Amino acid sequence: MSAQTRLVQDFAVPQIEFAGVSKKYQRLIIDNLNFAVAKGEFLSIIGPSGCGKSTVLKLISGLATATSGSILVDGMTPENARETISFIFQDPTLLPWRTVRANAVLGLELERMPKEKREIRVDSLLELVGLSHVSRAYPRELSGGMKMRLSIARALVTGPRLLLMDEPFAALDEMTRDRMNEELLRLRDELKWTVAFVTHSVSEAVFLSTRILVLAPSPGRIHADLPVNLPNPRTAELRATLEFEQTVTAVSRILRGARSA
Ligand SMILES: Nc1ncnc2c1ncn2[C@@H]1O[C@H](COP(=O)(O)OP(=O)(O)OP(=O)(O)O)[C@@H](O)[C@H]1O
Ligand SMILES: [Mg+2]
Repeated sequence: MSAQTRLVQDFAVPQIEFAGVSKKYQRLIIDNLNFAVAKGEFLSIIGPSGCGKSTVLKLISGLATATSGSILVDGMTPENARETISFIFQDPTLLPWRTVRANAVLGLELERMPKEKREIRVDSLLELVGLSHVSRAYPRELSGGMKMRLSIARALVTGPRLLLMDEPFAALDEMTRDRMNEELLRLRDELKWTVAFVTHSVSEAVFLSTRILVLAPSPGRIHADLPVNLPNPRTAELRATLEFEQTVTAVSRILRGARSA
């Protein structure tokens, strides 16, 4: 295959592709989901509690398997795409007996990367998320925002291309959350991931996303698929603009519609 065909094919393969995906536990949770996410997109998934948002992330990551339909990540089954993906959960599950640095390095130890290489990678990541100065501290000594940054560092250490985030900032106060949102976008600009992000906050979804998927409940299905055409890069000042306010109002209205759909 020539370099050029490879390039063309690479662009042609979406990062995530759902075709007719359904998921049943005792009852039908997700019904016939069809969507594709291009490389580099920042997709937020919003919808009423219990509509299946976390389940969608679990399906993408292979933590749950579809009852019917097909899911491709980078053109592969979720299981084969494991190395592409990092999952960041709502509660940072840090190991309390390990220092910040030792928590961050965990993924590389599991991968059996040589120690020297590991050290360099972890140093630059801690720098990137602004935790170098507390690398010897223990999780209990960190603020909520710092814990979240550490769990992001830990997820990034293996160099994922696709980041799945399930309400990662829900436990933070609004100011910290806003700052984390800005930092997340800065990191993403640098490291070029595709992101699938679940949140209950419409303004967070609008601020971060290139696109918002609104799910309707019982069973979970797509209610709206909305592009977010706000200027890039997204800065803190954007939140104070009329355009931002209007987008949040419009998306909130659509979300209310999803509840009764
Ligand atoms: N492992 C499981 N076994 C049985 N039912 C499950 C399982 N996981 C999720 N469910 C059910 O699937 C539905 C969707 O759950 P999910 O966690 O995906 O919703 P959600 O949209 O993330 O909700 P929330 O906004 O509250 O986090 C719920 O009714 C839940 O009870
Ligand atoms: Mg959830």
